[in-house]
Amino acid sequence: MSREIIEKIKELKKQRNAVILVHNYQRREVQDIADFSGDSLELSRKASGTDADVIVFCGVHFMAETASILSPDKKVLLPDLESGCPMADMINRQQLIQFKKDNPGATVVTYINSTAEVKAETDICCTSSNAVNVVRSIDNDKIIFCPDRNLGLYVEKVLNKKLILWQGFCPTHMRMLPEYVIEKKHKYPKALVLVHPECQPETVALADHVLSTTGIMNYVAGSGHNEFIIGTENEITFILRKKYPDKIFHTVTDIAVCPNMKKNTLEKVLWTLQEMKNEIKVPEEIRVLAYKPIRKMLDIY
Ligand code: 13P
Ligand code: SF4
Repeated sequence: MSREIIEKIKELKKQRNAVILVHNYQRREVQDIADFSGDSLELSRKASGTDADVIVFCGVHFMAETASILSPDKKVLLPDLESGCPMADMINRQQLIQFKKDNPGATVVTYINSTAEVKAETDICCTSSNAVNVVRSIDNDKIIFCPDRNLGLYVEKVLNKKLILWQGFCPTHMRMLPEYVIEKKHKYPKALVLVHPECQPETVALADHVLSTTGIMNYVAGSGHNEFIIGTENEITFILRKKYPDKIFHTVTDIAVCPNMKKNTLEKVLWTLQEMKNEIKVPEEIRVLAYKPIRKMLDIY
């Protein structure tokens, strides 16, 4: 059955001149039909550089919005419109406008996990892989960082610089409690701990390396080490197990699953391509404002 679906997807992809971009947290079978899979930064670059007419974005809502902001002449489709990111919804445009009023003169750095309307009120965006470098590049003592408090705290620690933090968080990464990491370290003392910076600071403090999703996979690829504890959404651990059968990978906890990322399925990808439905289109007045901070980030890093 799924072989049939895959064949139909391939056929329709040709007919529509479509490209399928897939985030690293998507289901394995969806990863298998990807033209490109990667982390948020890599996917933004791909979305801005493709010559396809249609982008099927297998990720969450803000990722498809970013693709639409960068490539307004393309049709961007999200297989499941319900696949949002709860962290992105923890701040809205009005709240950011008020936060800016409360902190006059601050430069606004917004994590890519945010809505287009929030990006429209932003000076520069960042992703988990370049947040430290983006903040480092800003010549201002007052910096607002939103919406992810944990990523902000990680940047503060690396740069030894105080930021004005919005108190958003990722519910999936909050599940990776420090006590779970300690337990796993006791159980597997030879394992290196690699975590995503969306984890809480107490968890990050126990890590050997703090990296984006692709950063974690690249680290493993280049490492002579053969046992790891992986502190991010569990799809990464499954990908690594498949790719490196001779190495050992442990999750921090089996409940570290992002339910939103899992909403896109092969059937839904096929349906969107057949019907050309579920288009994500950012209104032009918001798009032109949101384009600037994303472009600024991509031009620097
Ligand atoms: P990456 O940028 O590392 O892919 O992370 C995106 C994300 O949503 C993590 O929860
Ligand atoms: Fe959002 Fe967290 Fe899911 Fe990433 S893992 S998409 S930050 S809810």
